[in-house]
Amino acid sequence: MGKLYMVYFSAAGTTKQVMEAIADSLPPMERTEVDLLRNPLTQELCLEREDLLLLGMPVYAGVIPEHCLSMLKYLKGKGGPAILAAVYGNRDYDDALLQMRDLTTEAGFQPIAAGAFVAQHSIFPKVGAGRPDQKDLEWIQEFSKACSDLLKQPIDSLGQLSVKGSPDYSKRYPVKIPFKPTGNKSCTSCGTCVSICPMKAIPSSNPRQTDESLCISCGACIAACPARARGYHQAAYPAAAVGFGLKCAHRQEPEAFFCK
Ligand SMILES: Cc1cc2nc3c(=O)[nH]c(=O)nc-3n(C[C@H](O)[C@H](O)[C@H](O)COP(=O)(O)O)c2cc1C
Repeated sequence: MGKLYMVYFSAAGTTKQVMEAIADSLPPMERTEVDLLRNPLTQELCLEREDLLLLGMPVYAGVIPEHCLSMLKYLKGKGGPAILAAVYGNRDYDDALLQMRDLTTEAGFQPIAAGAFVAQHSIFPKVGAGRPDQKDLEWIQEFSKACSDLLKQPIDSLGQLSVKGSPDYSKRYPVKIPFKPTGNKSCTSCGTCVSICPMKAIPSSNPRQTDESLCISCGACIAACPARARGYHQAAYPAAAVGFGLKCAHRQEPEAFFCK
């Protein structure tokens, strides 16, 4: 095996947490981390056939974040293996894994395994609160062990990976989320949110504000704010959080798919 490339977007940190848990239980390999939030891909990244791609994406409205699509165009493979991780907030991952399978296949990888992992919902954090938890992390270890076994087999002997999802996933764009984070009185204008925002939606002249036409509600600013000043401060948010919490109260469990 060559190197392990961990490529992920993680605004609130749970996708990164899942990625690290998967990687820690894979065979030891030299790691290259490509954090698409802090270091957006702007030029081609071509993996060798012996390298392993571990791609992690949060699920936004049943698909992967739209702004990641242009960055993932730079990712190229030479027929090497890919493991896919879709991380979702206890509602549903819908078409995200199928979309990731198609994207990586078109980019020249051979997806060999995919997992849908449950995490705390970044807009409504009472949903999936505290996840991934211990049970999830143990499940992830088993997932990685099964991936390790697959990686021992010659890649040409493996068939196509089947995952859940509907092929018309493009219709899910554009994703429209009515709630956008803003800063409250605790904001010190330190500018941390301005620099972390992947959409450049927070003006440095007044970081309490958000350009709603640019913001994708990813929550990177909320997670990064040292003063805990950013959040969903709209009047309609508390009622929406209660309604969503009731709708998604049932505990979802992770799911795995392996090629045969
Ligand atoms: C804009 C947006 C849309 C989301 N849509 C879904 C969804 O369709 N299904 C779901 O279960 N969770 C959804 N979530 C929750 C995230 O998938 C979940 O919190 C994920 O763990 C976030 O990853 P991160 O912590 O790496 O940012 C959404 C979150 C955001 C910000």
